Amino acid sequence: MNLLRTSLIATCVIAAPLAMAQNTGKLKVGLMLPYTGTYAALGTAIENGFRLFVAEQGGKIGGREIEYVKVDDESDPSKATDNVNKLVKRDHVDVLVGSVHSGVAMAMAKVAKDTNTLLIVPNAGADAVTGPMCAPNIFRSSFSSWQPAYAMGEVAAKKGAKKAVTITHKYAAGDESVRAFREAFEKGGGQVVKDLNLPFPGVEFQALLTEIAALKPDVVYTFFAGGAAVKFVKDYAAAGLKKSIPLYGAGFLTDGTLDAQGADADGLLTTLHYADSLNTPRDNSFRLAYAKTYKLQPDVYAVQGYDAAQILAIGTNAVKGDLNKKAEFAAAVEKTKIDSPRGAFMLSKAHNPVQDIYLRQVVGKENKMLSVASKALADPARGCKM
Ligand code: PHB
Repeated sequence: MNLLRTSLIATCVIAAPLAMAQNTGKLKVGLMLPYTGTYAALGTAIENGFRLFVAEQGGKIGGREIEYVKVDDESDPSKATDNVNKLVKRDHVDVLVGSVHSGVAMAMAKVAKDTNTLLIVPNAGADAVTGPMCAPNIFRSSFSSWQPAYAMGEVAAKKGAKKAVTITHKYAAGDESVRAFREAFEKGGGQVVKDLNLPFPGVEFQALLTEIAALKPDVVYTFFAGGAAVKFVKDYAAAGLKKSIPLYGAGFLTDGTLDAQGADADGLLTTLHYADSLNTPRDNSFRLAYAKTYKLQPDVYAVQGYDAAQILAIGTNAVKGDLNKKAEFAAAVEKTKIDSPRGAFMLSKAHNPVQDIYLRQVVGKENKMLSVASKALADPARGCKM
C-alpha cells in the first residue's frame, strides 16, 4: 500500500514539470490528412498552405518551434478513431489538424471533445462538427457542407431552373451538400426530382449518367472532389450531357482539378468561398508566395491550410504559447478577424467561418469569380449548444 502511494506521488511530482515543459518546448502539430486515395492532392495542398504560413512566421508560433507528426488517414473513417488516438495518446500532440473527409473529421471531433485536445478542421464540411458536436476547443478554417450548397441552390432558382437532379457520393458531406442545395432551390420555387448517389470513393458513373439523361432535368447539382471530381466532369461531357443539361456544383468540383479536367470543365458554374481571380492585394501576395515555394498554383485547400495555421497562431500568441489556457485561446480566436486570402472573415459562435460565397465560372485553367453569390453567409449551426 505504502509502496503504491509512494510511486503515485513520485509519478505526480515527475508529471508536473513534464506538463510545463510541454508548453515551452516544441509545439507538436498532429497533421491527420489523406496522402493516398481520391483526396490525396487535397491533403498535400492543406499541408503546403499550413507550412507556408508557419514559414512566414519564421518557423515559430507563440514563441515555440513547430514539430509535425503526420498520419495518412486514407480518407477512411473506419481507421480514424485509432489514428487520432495515436496522435493524442502516443504522440501527445498539442493540436490536431484534420481532415479532408467528413467521416474522418467527425471521429477526430469526438476524440478531441472527449480528451479536450485542440482541433482545427482545415477542410471537412460535416455540418455536425460546428453543429451538435461543436465545442470550445474545436475550430474550422474551411466551410460547412451547407454553405456553398445553399448558395448554389439560390443561384439555380434565380436562373429560373425548375427541375433538378442531384448526384454525389453517399456519405455525410455529399448528403448534406445535396440537402442544402434542395433547401434553397425549393425555397426559390424549384424542385429536386431525384437524388442519385454511389458509395465513396466509387467512380462508376455510367448507369447514373444514363438515368440523368432519361430524367431530363433543367440542371444537375453535384458534390464531388479530388480524383472523383476529375472523372465525373470528364464522364459527364463524354456522355454528351454537358451540351444539354447545365452541371452546377459546390466548387470542389473544379478546384485543384482543372489541369486534369481540361476542356471538359470549361464554362462550369460552381459556388465556393474562394476563386482564382479575386485580385486583392492579400490574395495576390499569398498566391505569389505559394507559387514560389511549391511551383504550383494554390487552390481552396491550400487557403484552408494556411488559415488553419493562422487560427493556431492567433490563439497561441494570445496565450504566449501556453496551450493549457484553452478558454483564453478560444476568446482570442473568437474576437479576431482572420486575414484570409479568400477575404477577411470571423468565426461564428460555433467556430465556423462566416464568409462570402463566390459564384465562379471555369475559364481555361481558372475558376474565375463572377459575383458574390451570398455575402457573409453564416452556417445555421443547427444543434450547436455553446
Ligand atoms: C468532406 O468530406 O467534407 C469533403 C471532402 C472533399 C472536399 C470537400 C468536403 O473537397
